[in-house]
Amino acid sequence: MQNLAWIDGTINDISKAKISIEDRGYLLGDGVYEVIRIYNSHPFYLNAHLKRLQISAGAIRIDIPYAMEDIKTTIQGLIEASGCSDGYIYIQLTRGRAKRDHLFPAGAKPKMVIYVRELDPIPEIDAIKPQHCITLADERWMNCYIKTINLLPNLLARQQAAEAGAIEAILYRPGEVVTEGTRSNVFAVIDGRVMTHPETNLILSGITRRIVLDILENLSIPFSEEPFTLRDLEKASEVWITSSTMEVNPVGEIDGRSINGFAIGSICLRLMKEFRKQIAENCFEDVT
Ligand code: PDD
Repeated sequence: MQNLAWIDGTINDISKAKISIEDRGYLLGDGVYEVIRIYNSHPFYLNAHLKRLQISAGAIRIDIPYAMEDIKTTIQGLIEASGCSDGYIYIQLTRGRAKRDHLFPAGAKPKMVIYVRELDPIPEIDAIKPQHCITLADERWMNCYIKTINLLPNLLARQQAAEAGAIEAILYRPGEVVTEGTRSNVFAVIDGRVMTHPETNLILSGITRRIVLDILENLSIPFSEEPFTLRDLEKASEVWITSSTMEVNPVGEIDGRSINGFAIGSICLRLMKEFRKQIAENCFEDVT
């Protein structure tokens, strides 16, 4: 496949697509984004991602310069032109190009870039091994429900995790309240109940998180969207992280302490299987 980028109606190879150095996303991090997984050439839960883009853009007062239906058509066209089967769509929306100033520029035209990139097909569930995580203080701002391109605290924590041999840093706020990962939401089974931080300003409302909660509901597995602490996490019998690119990813060790003997827990395994069914239903069966 060819990795392609769409800017203002023109499609180019991703290496040739250009943005002004005065774009406020580049200069000031003044923008928001979305990452949407593609399976079998179909964007997974596209509407939910576009809804969240509207929420993020509205929260930082950027008007999306295209109609949602046009964005969907563009994404479909980009997937077809690229020949992408497994990959992701990245959408970035910034306040546009203007002379550098902290003030919102009068008359700047918001800029939207959409590109498609290849990803490896998802591995068989049997090939998935639980991963290491570490815990770190959540040093981000107070509006984490906005999917901002300002990711510096996330990058620093992710880098620290990688240097410690971990796939993700699980973040906690004062009071040792576990919020989410640097690029994922966090679930833990504590005293037999699935727990995940509620949808507040302290986390991103993950699309994968919502799919997992719906699956739990359908399977009548008890869950609570309630804050829990590092101390609660220490007694968790299962932990997993979720995101569009990582799906439902089992965690086998946190800060050197193993979880469920480093084996995928029974609830997590059911979720992984049910999540695959969601992918099949949405992207493989009867898709028009
Ligand atoms: N990250 N929390 C944070 C901070 C995230 O950045 C992400 C996604 C999630 C999971 O959201 P979703 O299930 O909608 O993908 C939670 C994307 C994948 C990224 O930045 O690459």
